[in-house]
Amino acid sequence: MSRFRYEGVDHDDHVPPPRSARRRRPRPPRDEPDPVVDAIGPTGATLSTYVDAVHGPEPTPAWVITSGAALDVDRGPIKTGKEADVHLVERHDPHDGRRALLAAKRYRDADHRLFHRDVGYLEGRRTRRTRETRAMATRTDFGRRVIAQQWATTEFDTIGRLWTRGIAVPYPVQLTGRELLLEFIGTPDGTPAPRLAEAPLSDDELSARWEQCVDAVLALGAAGYTHGDLSPYNILVEDDRVVLIDLPQVVDLVVNPQGMEYLARDCRNLCAWFARRRVDTVEPEQLASWVLAAGR
Ligand SMILES: Nc1ncnc2c1ncn2[C@@H]1O[C@H](COP(=O)(O)OP(=O)(O)OP(=O)(O)O)[C@@H](O)[C@H]1O
Ligand SMILES: [Mg+2]
Repeated sequence: MSRFRYEGVDHDDHVPPPRSARRRRPRPPRDEPDPVVDAIGPTGATLSTYVDAVHGPEPTPAWVITSGAALDVDRGPIKTGKEADVHLVERHDPHDGRRALLAAKRYRDADHRLFHRDVGYLEGRRTRRTRETRAMATRTDFGRRVIAQQWATTEFDTIGRLWTRGIAVPYPVQLTGRELLLEFIGTPDGTPAPRLAEAPLSDDELSARWEQCVDAVLALGAAGYTHGDLSPYNILVEDDRVVLIDLPQVVDLVVNPQGMEYLARDCRNLCAWFARRRVDTVEPEQLASWVLAAGR
């Protein structure tokens, strides 16, 4: 079993040090070099939860750090949303010095979420356990926790399925309770990629992003889905590609009774945004018909 030193305490793999041990042993004075602290900064490192978490689809990309001895540092919020907060997390393997940036999307607990998306999207999604179904329907605290966890699980599973099909989504690294750790879309210094709505794009770049968005929407359609909340705020622009995010509410075009309405709305949002920027788009109805044809 590998061991490493951090803040003057010996840790076994996966075993967090007891609080008392942390208190008894003082930190090394900062003039003594401590390779881990120097590598990732002095505060807030915790052992990676990867080993005990649900993992994303295989083949696991080579950049994913799987060691149970890795350390996570929360670098602070990227964005506070209505239903979840997204933080930048840096994962570091002290054995080989590798690091990876992750986006931690944490669904809010019962008291801190707005449930504006729950009603329509939850239709057709039922849990087999009737106690949970009842609690969800009456929005008790327990029911709200079930819903929040379901959103996280659904988003994680969905992103995994889409990633496997080669659709431009962040790789889903792991799921623990209401927290998803996703591939960070941005630059190595931790600057998140801009949302399409805010990305500074020339006319040529706008046309290229339009084409890529259409490809992504058609690829979703071929898998039988529409995004369900497609907007220039849920599309990131990383260098010269687009990446779809915020996918908990992905709508199954066959099963969901409101599937066609969600598809029409997604197409309207996308076409209208690009058309306002004088991109040569198509009518939303045309795009929707292509999506349906792609799914056949
Ligand atoms: N993988 C990622 N890499 C980089 N940034 C990300 C990633 N995922 C999310 N973000 C950032 O966090 C923001 C919120 O993420 P997301 O849309 O998934 O959550 P949300 O709670 O639904 O937010 P909102 O209520 O604003 O729609 C995104 O707009 C984006 O700026
Ligand atoms: Mg969003």
